[in-house]
Amino acid sequence: MSTDPSRPLLAPPSGSLTISEPKVDSALQLDAPEASPSSSVYLSLVIPTFNESENIEAMIELLSKLLDQALPGNYELIVVDDDSPDYTWKIAQEMVSQYPQLRVMRRQQERGLSTAVIRGWQVARGEVLGVIDGDLQHPPEVLLQLVAETQQGADLATASRHVEGGGVSSWSVVRRFLSRGAQLIGLIILPGVIGRVSDPMSGYFLVRRSAIAGKTLSPVGYKILIEVLGRGNIGRVAEVGYVFQERQSGESKVTWKQYVEYLRHLVRLRLALSPFGRFIRFGFVGLTGLFVDMSVFYLLREGLQLGLTRSNIISVELAILNNFLWNDAWTFSDISSRQQGWRQRAKRLLKFNVICLMGLILNTLIVNFLFNALGMNQYVAKLIAIAVVLFWNFWINLKLSWRVTEVK
Ligand code: GDD
Ligand code: MN
Repeated sequence: MSTDPSRPLLAPPSGSLTISEPKVDSALQLDAPEASPSSSVYLSLVIPTFNESENIEAMIELLSKLLDQALPGNYELIVVDDDSPDYTWKIAQEMVSQYPQLRVMRRQQERGLSTAVIRGWQVARGEVLGVIDGDLQHPPEVLLQLVAETQQGADLATASRHVEGGGVSSWSVVRRFLSRGAQLIGLIILPGVIGRVSDPMSGYFLVRRSAIAGKTLSPVGYKILIEVLGRGNIGRVAEVGYVFQERQSGESKVTWKQYVEYLRHLVRLRLALSPFGRFIRFGFVGLTGLFVDMSVFYLLREGLQLGLTRSNIISVELAILNNFLWNDAWTFSDISSRQQGWRQRAKRLLKFNVICLMGLILNTLIVNFLFNALGMNQYVAKLIAIAVVLFWNFWINLKLSWRVTEVK
């Protein structure tokens, strides 16, 4: 079977794993006729594959038959294959001439289930983005219920083994124990995320593009769902029970490595979502500010013989500017990236400046109180003042300059 030259392999995107905003497109209506290649569709379903040559044809046939019924011309299937040695990508690419909704990506530079899914979503045209395994262990017919849930407004519709009608056909006791154990650890480390669904390990779900658009995702290993739940703006969640089927051909790629990656993923999300990780970055930026302050102060005093107060004001101001630029570009980058434009940035700088200057006053008051009123050693007093003002600067800026509550 030959490939269709007019529909070549998709070029794998590179760079950060960020999903683009939904396109405002009138053709988005559910009953849209044949969608043109650039126009939007309702559903983009990604099928990540590695060595699924024995399953991929059946997957594409079954899914196309189902979706041609439910969403005629208004869906797309995106196979993302990591250059499988068994040429899964080639088999799929040879089917595109027969399946107009099918697109295939062959990744040769990157590898991994979660990033494969996100790269697929990055080239997708759908209002709703989905993922299903490419080995028939996720029953395709459940997809229709998931689609229906999103049509009724769910931001996330997941297929779950742990709700009514759910289960696993033939998992060993060990795998069941590991899967449940992993879930328990997740509930301890990230209760607010893992606790939102009954099957956080599920690799079968649909999510509304607008709920994750603009977010930089950085999953580790297999668990793309917890990344979506953790970093997305997920409103209503719907769950549909399904029975995880036995694999008929090919083999699972899950090894102990995936379990280690899962723990790393949990810790990474924990740090990213808690202010703690951000506080560490803020503190580090504060240190660079200290360096700028001291060295500029030294240069002005020793180099230009400038007066004490003037030197101090200039060096402190330059340190504040330094800290703002680094915090805007690094500590709060996930927020500032959504509040683009000079006006917004200038507003943040002004707030940051005022808060830090108030911090400066607070610093001076604390040093004077501890040294003069409590007779404390001046350097210990200075260190305590710096620590208190670091918290003050961090917390007030978190709440005022970079409004985390507006953007998760
Ligand atoms: N592109 C790409 N790259 N695809 C991959 C890779 C990879 O590195 N590794 C695995 N896949 C594909 C497989 O080809 C299959 O289509 C799908 O990802 C799932 O891989 P399996 O190795 O079959 O996983 P599993 O069946 O043991 O576990 C699955 O089900 C669990 C229960 O829902 C996964 O989806 C787990 O994430 C999920 O927890
Ligand atoms: Mn599988």
